[in-house]
Amino acid sequence: MLKIPGDGVSNLIYMKMAKTIFDPAIGELYKIKELCAEKGVDADVQKRLSDAISLAEARDTYCASVSSEPSEALATLQRETLEYPFDQAYQDGKTKWKLSPRMMSGHFEGKFLQSIVSMSKAKRVLEIGMFTGYSALACAEVLPEDGTVTALEFDPFLEEVAKGFFANSPCGKKISIRIGDAKETLLKLAEEKAQYDIVFIDANKDGYVNYFKTVIEKDLLAKGGTVILDNALMYGGAYNTKSTNENALAIRKCNEYVKSRDDMFQVLVPIRDGALIVRRKEDVYI
Ligand SMILES: C[S@@+](CC[C@H](N)C(=O)[O-])C[C@H]1O[C@@H](n2cnc3c(N)ncnc32)[C@H](O)[C@@H]1O
Repeated sequence: MLKIPGDGVSNLIYMKMAKTIFDPAIGELYKIKELCAEKGVDADVQKRLSDAISLAEARDTYCASVSSEPSEALATLQRETLEYPFDQAYQDGKTKWKLSPRMMSGHFEGKFLQSIVSMSKAKRVLEIGMFTGYSALACAEVLPEDGTVTALEFDPFLEEVAKGFFANSPCGKKISIRIGDAKETLLKLAEEKAQYDIVFIDANKDGYVNYFKTVIEKDLLAKGGTVILDNALMYGGAYNTKSTNENALAIRKCNEYVKSRDDMFQVLVPIRDGALIVRRKEDVYI
């Protein structure tokens, strides 16, 4: 049995939580399993169904287990985010909306982001939607000493939480947080003539098309840069045409918008909840 990287227990909890949500086919298999038990279906069939579920679930766990270890600071950030009393914070009026540890990208996707940032030799990363800072810190860790991560977040409460985590790492100093509605902050960054090599979009789904358009049209994406849009599968709602979930509809619209642009090159990678990687065609077919 391969070791789960970092804090094995929190990674296992996280993956179990994530897997049933992100792949709707597995959720469906669980429902069929219950139905089989209720209807007294042959025990051998039930056992094979359980084995099929275990195999499907083992996929991400295996991928994470052979991926590199997270740093101590990232492992702590992940564990403490999983344990954080977000419901209480919301009830106490500290957060603007109900936050959940499920929002965190986590170890496996963190390694994926680190690969892209390091392969592209990026120096400037823009993140739209910081939460407790997992992806921001993951990117900061693979940037050069003078590299920067600008992390946009709407909820001021998260600034303090993330700053606490960033303080645990020497790379935390590369991250600057901008609190406010990303729609407005992006316009301010464009006025400041800021440019980024990597833009990671991971905030409210109904804002995705606007964020993408602003990044491209206001020249926030540097020449040769890459945009990564998270949750491009939206729990399967992107391809499950029966889904009427508003986030799924927003993501479908965004994926279609990107696809409709003749000047863009893109690939949807089915990692975790899907990452749509977009580049300017002129930077790809050189
Ligand atoms: C999915 S979480 C981000 C997860 C984070 N990238 C990570 O890896 O852990 C989305 C975040 O976007 C923030 N957000 C939502 N709407 C926003 C907006 N209009 N402007 C800026 N941030 C927003 C939410 O408060 C939340 O913290």
